Amino acid sequence: MVGGVEEQLTVGRVAELAGVSVRALHHYDEIGLVRPSARTAAGYRAYAAGDVERLREVLAYRRLGFGLREIAELVDDPATDAVARLRRMRGLLLEQRDRTAAMVTAIDGELEARAMGIRTTPEEQLKVFGARLYDAIGADYPATRRTEPRIAARVWDALGDARTVLNVGAGTGSYEPPDREVTAVEPSAVMRAQRPRGAARCVAASAESLPFADLSFDAAMAFSTVHHWRDPIAGLREMRRVARRVVVFTHDAGDAGWRHRFWLTRDYLPEVAGLVADRPPVDRLARAIGARMEPVLIPWDCADGFFEAYWRRPEAYLDEQVRRAVSVWTRVGPEAERRAVEGLREDLSSGRWAERNRDLVDLDAAELGLRLLVA
Ligand SMILES: C[S@@+](CC[C@H](N)C(=O)[O-])C[C@H]1O[C@@H](n2cnc3c(N)ncnc32)[C@H](O)[C@@H]1O
Repeated sequence: MVGGVEEQLTVGRVAELAGVSVRALHHYDEIGLVRPSARTAAGYRAYAAGDVERLREVLAYRRLGFGLREIAELVDDPATDAVARLRRMRGLLLEQRDRTAAMVTAIDGELEARAMGIRTTPEEQLKVFGARLYDAIGADYPATRRTEPRIAARVWDALGDARTVLNVGAGTGSYEPPDREVTAVEPSAVMRAQRPRGAARCVAASAESLPFADLSFDAAMAFSTVHHWRDPIAGLREMRRVARRVVVFTHDAGDAGWRHRFWLTRDYLPEVAGLVADRPPVDRLARAIGARMEPVLIPWDCADGFFEAYWRRPEAYLDEQVRRAVSVWTRVGPEAERRAVEGLREDLSSGRWAERNRDLVDLDAAELGLRLLVA
C-alpha cells in the first residue's frame, strides 16, 4: 500500500473518474494489463497511485487507437523511464492533434472546391491521411520490399563503429544492421505489425518528435522514408539531437535531372514531378544537419523493389504486386497509373522501349538521384 486511504480508488470510482466502464477495467485486470494492487479498509480491491498512473497510460494509448497487445508492450517497456514515456505519449498526442487539424483543413478545402464544381485529385484526397498513408497501403509492402545487400553494406559502413542504432521510419526493418543494438521508430501500426518475429524493439513515434533524450544513440539511420515525413528538416534535426552520427538514404527530390534520366518518370509518369514539388531538395536536407552527400548507384538486379529498382527490368512495372509496394503508384492515382502501365506495355511489345533505352542494356548500375547523407 503506497499511501493513505484517499490514495486508493475503488473500481467504480476509477471508472467514473476516467469515463470508462467497470467492465473494461475488469478486462484489463483479467489480462494483466492494469491490476488494482491495493485493498480498501473493507477489503475490496483498489487502485493504488502506481496503478492509476499505468491506467492513464493505457487509456491514452487506447484513445490513440493502439491495440491492447501493443499497449502491453508499450507500458511494460523496461528501457523507458517515466519521463521518456510521458514524452512519447505527448509526441503521439501532438501528432494526432496535427493530423486531425490537417484532415479538417483538407476536408474544408474539398468542400470549398466541390461548392465551386471542382473535383479533388486522388493525391489531394490521400493527403488527408498524412503520415498514415502506410496504414492504407502498408499491407502490400513486404511482397517486394526487402534488403538490397549492396546498398545495406553502404549504410552499415557509414554507421561506423556505432553500437546502438536508432532506425527512424523503420517499416518492416529491411535495413537494420544485424550486429548492433537497434531500436526502431515507426508511426504506422500496419507496418509495425509486419515486422518479423525477433526484429528489433519498435517504438510508435514519428521522426519529427523522437521520444528519446539527447544523444541516446551512437547513430540514427533513416532509409527511404524522409520523403514521407510531414517536416523532413525537423525530423533530421531530431535525429541529430538524439544521435552522434546520422545516416540517411533518400532521393534527390529537387533535381529535375534524375526525373529526366529515369525513363519511367520521363516517358510514362510525369506526375511524379508534382508529388515532389513541395519537398526540400537533398542539398537542403544535407545542409540542415551538416551532412556530406554520396551518390548511390542502383544495381540492375536490385533486390529491394523501390520505385527506381527495376530500371533495367521494365516488365516488372506491369506487375500489380510490384506497383502496390511503392507509394508513388497510389499517390499519382488510378488514372495516371493505368495510362502509364498501358503506355509501357505497348512500347515493350512494339520494341519502342528497347529502342529508346538502348544505352541501358549494358549498364550494371544506374545513377538515378539516390543519395546517402552522412553527418
Ligand atoms: C518506404 S517505407 C520505408 C521503410 C523502411 N525504412 C524500409 O526501407 O523498408 C517509408 C516508411 O516511413 C514511415 N513514415 C511515414 N511518415 C513518417 C514520419 N513522419 N516519421 C517516421 N516514419 C514515417 C512510413 O510509415 C513507412 O513505414
